[in-house]
Amino acid sequence: MESNYHDRIPNNVDLGSNRTLQRALEHWQPEFLNWWHGLGPSDFNAAEVYLRTAISVDTKGWATFGYVKMPDYRWGIFLAEPETDRKIGFGDNFGQAAWQQVPGEHRSTLRRLIVTQGDTEPASVEQQRLLGHTAPSLYDLRNLFQVNVEEGRHLWAMVYLLHAYFGRDGREEAEELLERHSGDADKPRILSTFNEPISDWLSFYMFTYFTDRDGKFQLKSLAESSFDPLSRTCRFMLTEEAHHMFVGDTGIGRVIKRTIEVMKEFGTDDPVAMRKAGAIDLPTIQRYLNFWFSSSLDLFGGDSSSNAASYFANGLKGRPDEERYEDHLAAEQAHTLELPDGKGGVRSEQIPMRNAMNEVVRESYVRDCEKGLGRWNKLLEDSGYPQRMFLPSPRFRRTVGSWANIPTDLNGKPISAEEFAARQTEWLPTEGDRAYVRSLMKGVFERGKMAGWIAPPERGINTKPIDFEYVLLH
Ligand SMILES: [Fe+2]
Ligand SMILES: [Fe+2]
Repeated sequence: MESNYHDRIPNNVDLGSNRTLQRALEHWQPEFLNWWHGLGPSDFNAAEVYLRTAISVDTKGWATFGYVKMPDYRWGIFLAEPETDRKIGFGDNFGQAAWQQVPGEHRSTLRRLIVTQGDTEPASVEQQRLLGHTAPSLYDLRNLFQVNVEEGRHLWAMVYLLHAYFGRDGREEAEELLERHSGDADKPRILSTFNEPISDWLSFYMFTYFTDRDGKFQLKSLAESSFDPLSRTCRFMLTEEAHHMFVGDTGIGRVIKRTIEVMKEFGTDDPVAMRKAGAIDLPTIQRYLNFWFSSSLDLFGGDSSSNAASYFANGLKGRPDEERYEDHLAAEQAHTLELPDGKGGVRSEQIPMRNAMNEVVRESYVRDCEKGLGRWNKLLEDSGYPQRMFLPSPRFRRTVGSWANIPTDLNGKPISAEEFAARQTEWLPTEGDRAYVRSLMKGVFERGKMAGWIAPPERGINTKPIDFEYVLLH
């Protein structure tokens, strides 16, 4: 498939052959840039950043590195190569030809799914817009901006689908994607996690580890869609998304590594001593983790959901890696949920598998989250420390689904509202924790230097050394 990198809007969808669509998107482009200047990264737009840009989807072109000023980044429209004769892989239409156009009866549902996904992309850029000022190193500053420009590209990916396949409604939705803003009282972003401010780098790493990983699972579900252009769009986005989770995974690991160094140096793990030495104590890291993990779990939706069942039945949204399942109809199977029994205990209930699809995806997400925990705990283990980081129970602090607003402890044991209130400071970041973490946030912009609360990365980006000048600030 040909890539038109030098068009005003780089693309591999032969945009030039559809003048109306091209003009509509060229009209949206300055609005996007306006949004970027107004709500994208604050300052740094004149800096030269060592960024990865997709110029095509093949192995040679999808990751082209070089210095770019962020507003000059070439945001393009790239879809994974089409699969010949792709068939629908699940649901009631299993085995039929995938759709190249939107079937009328699924138009509004598909539009809603695309808008909801699309809304998260610029939302995260807005949430992170002030972080550049407090980056712990030039390496981290570059990674932040890489994530930001790619979320911008993901917005482009969704806007392309809206413009190309949903006519006037789609164009209006594309405008609204730039009108809602993270945390805005009147026009907030659609999903609540994307209205949480991200004002420190520990939160940023938690967000890229836990919330971008939710993104990965949503994209994997949509990559299974019968609507082929959506599937191909999501498949290519996933290649970029992997780096965002890498930033979170290694970021949290580096914070823990630095804390271990300070624990060794002072021969104690006392949080007060850790803070005096300028490190982030392990219990604080755990509380941040509890917050972002529980918040990200809500993004998967209700554990028993008739919407999820109809998305699956109609082939709109599948299970990640659907080919790994034996039964692609999932019409006869059941799934067991553990639900609050209303008397302070837990009861099991079997529900039809299709209604449990959100839960099925959430469960594989939780398993994926555990991998990072293994790596971080290895650092503690190798240093001879007994402490371990852990994921709280998926029932903890939920606001969506059967466990919404049911107080539990970290093990998911239902407790009274009084006990939850009394123990919150043990489980979730306190004002004091946040103030302390914020007090550490001071930009380190000297080449090769690293803030004192985080260890350097193992290696640099694209085989460059760690002390490479990843951002030229001038
Ligand atoms: Fe994204
Ligand atoms: Fe992302």
